[in-house]
Amino acid sequence: IHLVGLDIPKRVYIVACGTSYHAGLVSKRLLEQIAHIPTEVHIASEFLYDQPLIGDKPLFIFISQSGETADSRGVLDKIKKQGYPTLAVTNVQGSTLYREADFKLLTHAGPEIAVASTKAYTAQIAVMALLAIHLANVQGLQSPVDMFRELRTISTAMEALIEKKALARQIAHEYLTGKHSCFFIGRLQDYAVCLEGALKLKEISYIQAEGYAGGELKHGPIALIEEGTPVFVLITDSRIAKNIRSNAEEVRSRGANTCIIAVEGLDHQGDAWVLPRVHPLLTPLVSVIPFQLIAYYA
Ligand code: M6R
Repeated sequence: IHLVGLDIPKRVYIVACGTSYHAGLVSKRLLEQIAHIPTEVHIASEFLYDQPLIGDKPLFIFISQSGETADSRGVLDKIKKQGYPTLAVTNVQGSTLYREADFKLLTHAGPEIAVASTKAYTAQIAVMALLAIHLANVQGLQSPVDMFRELRTISTAMEALIEKKALARQIAHEYLTGKHSCFFIGRLQDYAVCLEGALKLKEISYIQAEGYAGGELKHGPIALIEEGTPVFVLITDSRIAKNIRSNAEEVRSRGANTCIIAVEGLDHQGDAWVLPRVHPLLTPLVSVIPFQLIAYYA
């Protein structure tokens, strides 16, 4: 950890691409709810040409497995020239982002084995959770979560989920055989995880997959639901469990084949996969795993 001298920022700008951007979306909630720091998440290739107005005392956080992604490096260059502080969250010590950022955190996910990012994503979220706790502690804020205990519990839950290979294989077979397009729907954090689920599936199976916020479906994309369209529905937050179930009902009534993945306590009979309940802020660490495995088996 190289955070010595890091001042508490008034606003955080997360910049990343692809899966790392999706980890950024989850991290925004961690930084805002644990460290109380307003956070924006930007796609690096967009930020390069369309920089937003930068507030007082910003911190730029670059999340990147490789530490070499050209778009993120481009933004780092640009931001450094403007004199703002930068932090790299990367898996590769000695990478360009690692070397050039003012502050650095290593994700320690181990070497990348395949281009589809899986463990890098969860490690990025875990490290951002630790950063959020650090920034809360420095401000004397009480954390809403006993982070170290929770992360230990979650790692056990993740190991157990990774063993559910037969279930993932059966779901992939049942819902995706012969299919050319599908949806992943969720709300709040589940929406962020759905974006990642859809990216993973399309990247490695070549099946068109769209991640959508459940409430947005009716504003256009529902037109694409036809008899047998697979729709993966993620439900981990009690505040929106009812709403997302009714979104699932809407698509089912148009013929969709819904595969519901719900956290225990919010599950109903007939759901395809019941996830262990962990702290709501950290649920993406477990809820992404079924999607990763289903993509693999698809
Ligand atoms: O190395 P990076 O995290 O900066 O890479 C960014 C994206 O290219 C990467 O996350 C990509 O989306 C994943 N490999 C997809 O699985």
